[in-house]
Amino acid sequence: MDTHDSTDKARLGVLVSGRGSNLQALIDAFSGGRLNGQLAVVISNMAGVFALERAERAGIPTAVVDHRGWSSRDEFDRALVAELRKHQVSLVCLAGFMRRLGKPLLQAFPDAVLNIHPSLLPSFPGLHPQRQALDYGAKLSGVTVHLVTEELDAGPILLQRAVPVLDDDTEDSLAARILAEEHVAYPAAVEMMLAGGWRISGRRFARS
Ligand code: GRF
Repeated sequence: MDTHDSTDKARLGVLVSGRGSNLQALIDAFSGGRLNGQLAVVISNMAGVFALERAERAGIPTAVVDHRGWSSRDEFDRALVAELRKHQVSLVCLAGFMRRLGKPLLQAFPDAVLNIHPSLLPSFPGLHPQRQALDYGAKLSGVTVHLVTEELDAGPILLQRAVPVLDDDTEDSLAARILAEEHVAYPAAVEMMLAGGWRISGRRFARS
């Protein structure tokens, strides 16, 4: 398996569907000079979401690619690929993007699509991971940043950060504790990707 080289010309495309606090963490990391490269475009599948406003405020180009009205999920994927290519994106970050992606997008960006998920995968994939952790009675939860594959929330893991689940937690209080770690984890994972010197070996993301 080839080791990936570092790149100082990375162009990130961030896909969002909502409030965009993880997008903000990336904006802050780039504008603070911590990350090499630039945020090339922020794409939402829904108009009017706060994430788009955050991007506009930061002077980042935005686009809306509505997930409705395509003849298939692949067609939606292809529309996303076209928009990402238009902005010469080399790394795609899902940040609260609420649609599943398939082959057209994943093959267009091999080993170059990241997702952030608010649980310690493989525990609690899918929807409402914080509620799942509480219902299960887990004592630890956290955040996972992983490469996206066709299987939901199951790609090679770059980085995880754990938080305690407290006895009096509600879904909201646990989500807030995890979110604070998300904002540390996502820029750190992007930094790892951009630094290069890593390879994927089986399911393992390894630094060489
Ligand atoms: C985060 O909890 C993220 O892990 C999950 O969706 C939420 C998005 O929040 N995938 P935000 O839009 O980044 O604030």
